[in-house]
Amino acid sequence: MELELQSLEKEARQQLEALSDSAGLEEFRIRYLGRKGQFSTILRQLGTVTTDDRPRLGQLANTVKEQIEALFAERQAAINSSDDQSEDFSKFPDLTLPGRIPVTGKLHPVTQVMQEVCAIFENLGFSVAEGPDVEQDYYNFEALNIPAHHPARDMHDTFYVSDQLLLRTHTSPMQARIMETRQPPLRIIAPGKVYRCDSDITHTPMFHQVEGFLVDRHVSFADLKGILTVFTQKMFERDLPLRFRPSFFPFTEPSAEVDIACVICGGSGCRVCKRSGWLEILGSGMIDPEVFKMVGYDPEIYSGFAFGLGIERIAMLKYGIDDIRLYYENDQRFLSQF
Ligand code: DAH
Repeated sequence: MELELQSLEKEARQQLEALSDSAGLEEFRIRYLGRKGQFSTILRQLGTVTTDDRPRLGQLANTVKEQIEALFAERQAAINSSDDQSEDFSKFPDLTLPGRIPVTGKLHPVTQVMQEVCAIFENLGFSVAEGPDVEQDYYNFEALNIPAHHPARDMHDTFYVSDQLLLRTHTSPMQARIMETRQPPLRIIAPGKVYRCDSDITHTPMFHQVEGFLVDRHVSFADLKGILTVFTQKMFERDLPLRFRPSFFPFTEPSAEVDIACVICGGSGCRVCKRSGWLEILGSGMIDPEVFKMVGYDPEIYSGFAFGLGIERIAMLKYGIDDIRLYYENDQRFLSQF
């Protein structure tokens, strides 16, 4: 019985150490200290030992029980007070915690570059004009010297709302819309969304363009070259050589595609510029006399230049992005870099 008491004492002490909450405390109390607990059971067995041993064993049992009771009370006090403390903390804010930084949105990289392009031209005296995405066949094609069945329409397949109403394929219709209602001198840029039946790593069915045009007396190709040189310098933050390549657009004559020296390799040839050292950034030219005639300007008096650039493409070159579809996947890991 003495041995039994010793092992019970050891077991109870270990259990007490491990207690961590009030539910555990209650379980312990019932198991060891309650009326049907293990100590009571041992005390009841005193009747079975010899009368010689009884007083000594009785005293031993009581001492052990009292010690365990005292330890239990201590443990109970400790657990209750720590419960109280955690309650207190939850009631009061902890002013030493670092603040929570709210997640703020930011402008999409395409919007950022669009605003940057507009700002550069505004500083050169251009004003911004916006027009409808759903455009009339007349402004998208006819007024730009692209009659029905003109082969240039091939490259401008789009989504039709009705026979004469379509999603505009470029921002050039703004030339006709503005010139129809205003007289020169004009310095306009027209940013916006455009749509084409196209989808691969360099084309999305919707993309953004900025159209620019200037009309006055005695405007020459040199003016176009000057303006575009300033624009590319500001946009790419360095002095990049420009190259004008003869091209064709029905609404400009002569027409040119403009290249900049490759922003990746500086002109020596790399994968991005397909070893040519040049990157195409926009289409441009002198406004065709036919376009002037359709809006009622006298081409003998006025001349002007126009250009159209793709925002996604400019942003890809500026930031070294190699797949246009990244813009429209809404992946925060991509978007938050800008
Ligand atoms: N509108 C043409 C396109 O989207 C781009 C363009 C070329 C605009 C020459 C112009 C220009 O103003 O002069 O393909």
